[in-house]
Amino acid sequence: MKKYTALGITLFSLAVPGQSVMAAEKLNLVCSAEQPWCDLMVEGFEAQTGIDVAMVRKSTGETLAQIRAESKNPKIDVWWGGTGDPHLIAAAEGLTQPSGVDTSDLLGWAVNMSDISEGKTVGIYAGALGLAYNSELIAEKNLEAPACWKDLADVQYAGEIQVANPNSSGTAYTELATFVQLFGEEEAFTLLADIGKNVNQYTKSGSAPSKAAARGETAISIGFMHDMVKLASSGFPLKIVAPCEGTGYEVGAVSIIDKAKNLDSAKQWVEYALDPATQSRSVEVKSYQVPSNSKSSVAPESPDLASIKLIDYDFATYGSTDTRERLLSRWDAEVKNAPKN
Ligand code: G6P
Repeated sequence: MKKYTALGITLFSLAVPGQSVMAAEKLNLVCSAEQPWCDLMVEGFEAQTGIDVAMVRKSTGETLAQIRAESKNPKIDVWWGGTGDPHLIAAAEGLTQPSGVDTSDLLGWAVNMSDISEGKTVGIYAGALGLAYNSELIAEKNLEAPACWKDLADVQYAGEIQVANPNSSGTAYTELATFVQLFGEEEAFTLLADIGKNVNQYTKSGSAPSKAAARGETAISIGFMHDMVKLASSGFPLKIVAPCEGTGYEVGAVSIIDKAKNLDSAKQWVEYALDPATQSRSVEVKSYQVPSNSKSSVAPESPDLASIKLIDYDFATYGSTDTRERLLSRWDAEVKNAPKN
């Protein structure tokens, strides 16, 4: 006992007066939104709290794979952004933990995520899925402008469509789940394989196809409309289409990883991420999702979800391990290597 006291005194006397002997607080974050928004969020948090953030950007499906692989000794504390289904799956698999954050100011679709996951994830933004085309390329190649999902199976679009891979990308998984909910599973896979005959590339990240369409590297892309609005409002010749059959949407989410090493910092991040002052800043980097806090301001550029024909997306079903694994294996077998037109 005396020994410990003596050691304590020695350590104390070595410390420089006025300086803490505690290590600086830190936070390890994976961000699955767009890079400029990830950077803005980190800068704002560091300035507000003094906590050092180490951040990497990864697509939603890739992040789920990392969290599963590291479950015994997680390197990540918080996962912010990305589509909600994989966040719900992580919650159901016990890979994330309740944040205890106050959800009373949040919109219904954001609270729904918390309800389904028993508080282990919560909604931060929402955005609808759509398609876009490069108007210059469509005119140059004498192609018709697509208006419906089913149009994309037309042979005139051979080699002209780009979309992400649903194994790595939450955007593309939202598309897969949307097709199954809109058309029924059998018809959905036939249509996805037919569209697949026209696809020139399945990208890793969900926003890459619309960036390629904006630059004229592909005529048509599938992705989230808010990502397309960002490109169109930056001057690219991109036309955005809400498909005639209706469409699905994402609820982006934030989750604290189970056994997070910096739990207090992680909880502060979740509070910060739901704060209207934080959410209202997304417009600074042209991220036009609808924010989840009812007190946040919505950018005039944000696609108006009420005016889009949205399906009643079943997050509990499509955010479950069994459904996702089954749909992804079917996609690998029937769509990924479909013969090309
Ligand atoms: C973009 C969108 C986000 C979405 C994310 C999913 O960053 O702006 O709203 O959540 O893509 O990324 P992923 O690469 O997983 O499709």
